[in-house]
Amino acid sequence: MSDRNIVIAFDIYGTLLSFESIAEKLVAFFDEDKSQLIAKLWRQYQLEYTWRLNSMDRYLPFQEVTKNALQHALDTTGSQLKEWQIDDMLTAYESIATFPDVKATLDKVSQIPNASAVIFSNGTLDMLRRAIVRSPTLTHHASTFTETISVDDVKRFKPACEVYKYLAQRVGKSSAEMEDIWLVSSNPFDAVGALNVGLKVIWVDRQKAGWTDRAMPDLRPTVIVNDLEQVAEVIANHTQCTET
Ligand code: LAC
Repeated sequence: MSDRNIVIAFDIYGTLLSFESIAEKLVAFFDEDKSQLIAKLWRQYQLEYTWRLNSMDRYLPFQEVTKNALQHALDTTGSQLKEWQIDDMLTAYESIATFPDVKATLDKVSQIPNASAVIFSNGTLDMLRRAIVRSPTLTHHASTFTETISVDDVKRFKPACEVYKYLAQRVGKSSAEMEDIWLVSSNPFDAVGALNVGLKVIWVDRQKAGWTDRAMPDLRPTVIVNDLEQVAEVIANHTQCTET
C-alpha cells in the first residue's frame, strides 16, 4: 500500500450542510415564495461579498459577512426583521442540517486507509465548531476530521490562492504534493480555485446539472459525482491505483 497520505478536504456550506432549512426557518416570518427568495439572495450576497472583499484587499469575518448579506437580502426584497429575529436566523445558519448522504459518506471515508479528512471552509472556527456541535451527524463524526481549517487564519476567502496554499500547509503538504489533496465541494468557484493551485477536486453535482462553469475554461473537476457517497469510492480507487 502506498504510504502517501491523501487528504480529503470537505467544503462545508452547500456541500455537507444543506441550505434547505434556512428557507424553512424564514417561513416563520415570511410567506413561502418570499422565504425562498430571501434565502437565495442571502447566499448570493454572502458569496459576492467574499469575492468583493478579496478584490479590495479587505476582510471581514464570515459571521459579519453573513449578517450583512442577510440585511442586504431583506432590503432588496423590501422585507424587515427585528434584531432578535435576525439573531434567530444567524443561529439557524449555524444549525443547518447535513445532506442525507453525509453520514454514510463519512462512515465510508473513515475506513479508507492512507486517507485523512479535514473540514476546510470560509466560516470562522467559532462558526464551524458551533455547526459541528449542533449537527448530530457531524458531531458523531467529529473524530473523522483530523482538522477544522478556516480561511479566517489568512484573512482571505475562497477562491484566493492563499487559502488553498494555507490548507496545504496545515495538512503538511509541500507545493510538490498539492495533488495529494482532494477538495470535495459543491461550489464551482471553490472547485476552480482549488484546481488553479494544483489540488485535485471532486465536484458534487447533486442536482445533476452538469459542469457549466467557464471562469477558467481549461479547469474542470478531476471527478464529478452526483452523490456524496461516491467520494469514498473515488478516493479508495485512487489510492489503490497509486499503490507502490
Ligand atoms: C465554505 C463556503 C464556500 O464553506 O461554502 O467555505
